[in-house]
Amino acid sequence: MTSRKEELRAQEPSHGRRNVIVTAIIAALGGLLFGYDTGIIASALLFIRHDFHLGDFGQGAVVSAVTLGAVIGAPIAGTLADRFGRRRMILAASIIFIVGSGACAAAPSAEILVAARVVLGIAVGIASAVCPIYIAEVAPVDVRGQLVTLFQLAVTVGILVAYLVGLVFNSSEGWREMLGLGALPAIALGAGMIYMPRSPRWLVMIGERSEARATLREMRGADQSAVDEELGEIEATLQAEQGTYRDLLAPAMRAALTVGVGLAILQQITGINTVIYYAPTIVQFAGVSSSGSAILASIGVGIVNVGATLLAIRLLKNTGRRTLLLVGVGGMVLSLVSLGIAFLLPKDSSVIGPMAVISLMLYIGSFAISLGAIFWLLNAEIYPLRVRAKAAGIGTMSNWTFNFIVSLTFLPLIALAGRSATFFIYAGIGVLTWLFCLFLVPETKGVPLEEIEAEWDRRAGVTPPAAAGG
Ligand code: BGC
Repeated sequence: MTSRKEELRAQEPSHGRRNVIVTAIIAALGGLLFGYDTGIIASALLFIRHDFHLGDFGQGAVVSAVTLGAVIGAPIAGTLADRFGRRRMILAASIIFIVGSGACAAAPSAEILVAARVVLGIAVGIASAVCPIYIAEVAPVDVRGQLVTLFQLAVTVGILVAYLVGLVFNSSEGWREMLGLGALPAIALGAGMIYMPRSPRWLVMIGERSEARATLREMRGADQSAVDEELGEIEATLQAEQGTYRDLLAPAMRAALTVGVGLAILQQITGINTVIYYAPTIVQFAGVSSSGSAILASIGVGIVNVGATLLAIRLLKNTGRRTLLLVGVGGMVLSLVSLGIAFLLPKDSSVIGPMAVISLMLYIGSFAISLGAIFWLLNAEIYPLRVRAKAAGIGTMSNWTFNFIVSLTFLPLIALAGRSATFFIYAGIGVLTWLFCLFLVPETKGVPLEEIEAEWDRRAGVTPPAAAGG
C-alpha cells in the first residue's frame, strides 16, 4: 500500500526538476536581452540616422557601442561574479539594462545615445558571461546541456522579437519605443532573480555549505544521497581558495582556455553576424531589390535561427556536443561555399536570388545547432569552479571582441575582395573550425562539471591533486 507520504516523496524529484527549469528560464532572460539589444539597432538605425544626421562613422558608433560595452562588461563580470556571486551579478545586469534602455530611449543627442548603448553593452557583457554559468551550476548533469542552451534559445528569440518590433514601429519611425522596450524583459529578469537561489557551487566556494545543500535539495528533490554525493564532488575539486588570474596560466588551464577562447573567436570569425546584422544587405546583393522582401529575409533568418536552436535542444538530449559541432560546422562550410558560388554566377541569372536565400537559411540553421548552441554551453561548463567565472569572462570578452571586428570589417572586405571571395574566406575559416572541433574539443555530455577538470589535467600531463595527495 502506498502511503500519502510515499506518494508525495515520489513527486519530489519532479518538483525539483520544475524548480530548476524555472530558474534556468528566468536566468535565460539575460540571453533575450542580449539578442534584443543587438538585433533592434538594425531597424532603429534607419530613423536615428535621420534624426541625428549621422554619417557612416556616427552610424557605426551607434551600432557597435553595445559590442564595445560587452567587451568591457564581460571581464568585469568574471571577476565580480566570484566575489559577489552569480545571482547578484545578474541582478546588477538587470538594473543596468533598465537604466541603459531608458537612457537610449530618451537620448537627446547622438553622443548620449552612444554612451547609453555602451552602458547597455556592459549589461550584455555581464549577462553573457554569468547567466550561462549560473544555469550550468544549478542544473543536474543529465539536462545541463539542454538547460544552458535555453540561454542561446533566448538570444535567438530576442533577435527575432527585435526584427518584429522593428517592423511594428517602422511606420511611426518609433526608434525611441524600439530601444525603450528593452526595459521590459530587463524588469522581468530583475524581478525574477530576486526570488531565485544563489548558485550552490558558488556557495560551496565561499564556505556556505548548509545553504548550498538546501539549494541542491530544492533543485534535486528529496534524494538525500544524490545531494550529498553532488556536494561531496563539488567540495573534492575545490581544494584551493578561489583562483586568481595567475592561476589561468597553469598548464591545465591553458589547455582549457585554448578550447574555450578558440571556440569563442571561431564562433565569430566564421561570419555569423554578417548574416544576423546584414541579412537584408546580402539578399539585396543577390538581386532582390524591394526592401520589403529584404526585411522578410531577415525575419526568415530569425525564424530559422529560433527553430534550429529548438532542434538543438532536442538533439542535445541524446547527441554529444562534438557530434553537433561537427555536423553543424560542416553545414556552415557547405552553405558558405554555395553562397560564394551564387555570387560567381552571371549577374542576370535568376538562380542567384533563390540560391543565396537557401544558402543563408542553411547557414543559419547549421550555426544554430552547432557553434550557436554549443559555444555558450562549453564556455559555462569546461572550466574548474575555482576559476570558472574569470575564465568564462575571458572567453566572453574574446567573443565580443571578434564580433566587433567582423561586423566592422564585413562591408570593407566585400569592397576589397568581392562577394564570392569574402564568403569563401569565411568557408575556409569554417574548415579550420571543423578541424579544431575534431581534434581539440572534448565531449562533456553526461560528465559532471567536477570531472571535466580531470580532462584538462590529463591533457597537460598533470596528476590531479586528489590522486597525487591521497
Ligand atoms: C552569438 C551572437 C549571434 C547569435 C545569433 C550567439 O551565440 O554569440 O554573436 O548574434 O548567436 O543567434
